[in-house]
Amino acid sequence: MEHEPTDREGRRIALCAVDDGNWRAVADIAPRDEQRGFVAALAARYLLLSMCGGLWTSLGVLADDTVVGHVMWAYDEEGGAHWIGGVVVDADEQGKGVGRAAMQALIRMLSRRPDCREIRLSYHPDNSGAAKLYAALGFTPTGDLEDDEVVVALAVPRDPAA
Ligand SMILES: CC(C)(COP(=O)(O)OP(=O)(O)OC[C@H]1O[C@@H](n2cnc3c(N)ncnc32)[C@H](O)[C@@H]1OP(=O)(O)O)[C@@H](O)C(=O)NCCC(=O)NCCS
Repeated sequence: MEHEPTDREGRRIALCAVDDGNWRAVADIAPRDEQRGFVAALAARYLLLSMCGGLWTSLGVLADDTVVGHVMWAYDEEGGAHWIGGVVVDADEQGKGVGRAAMQALIRMLSRRPDCREIRLSYHPDNSGAAKLYAALGFTPTGDLEDDEVVVALAVPRDPAA
């Protein structure tokens, strides 16, 4: 049986579609001021990218019933990899285990897609917190750079029962 990931406060961390009821809360997710060099100042920017680009899908991160973060994912048909982006935990909610649990939930969700063999993401080379988190989740460097960001990848094992 699969357990829902929880943060260090015991809150259930889950991903949710962005809808009429929660889009404001998702749009208002903001990193700490000093993290603005690594990510957008507001998740609203990622929501717009999801709406306009036709590539990314934004999801809210819930801690129990409260929106505490944003993530998004895409499938790169050419490269054959799924990508994660726009990972932001609201400034006041950081350091509680939300980011780790949200990433675990997203990796689990993407891994269930039949075409998912590899998950990739990129981060600013100075973003040591993100680097630690992704390494702990099993992502390893690909050697590639994307817009001057370090690209890491996680292999998704093929489910023999599928
Ligand atoms: C990176 C981010 C998503 C992590 O979310 P979080 O909820 O704060 O992280 P967690 O509490 O789940 O911590 C998970 C791990 O991340 C690493 N980590 C997170 N913040 C860190 C920091 N400031 N310094 C060092 N390591 C850090 C640690 O390895 C930590 O594990 P530990 O608690 O066992 O030490 C969050 O800090 C954030 O939104 N930062 C701004 C946006 C950003 O940089 N996003 C990533 C873009 S690629």
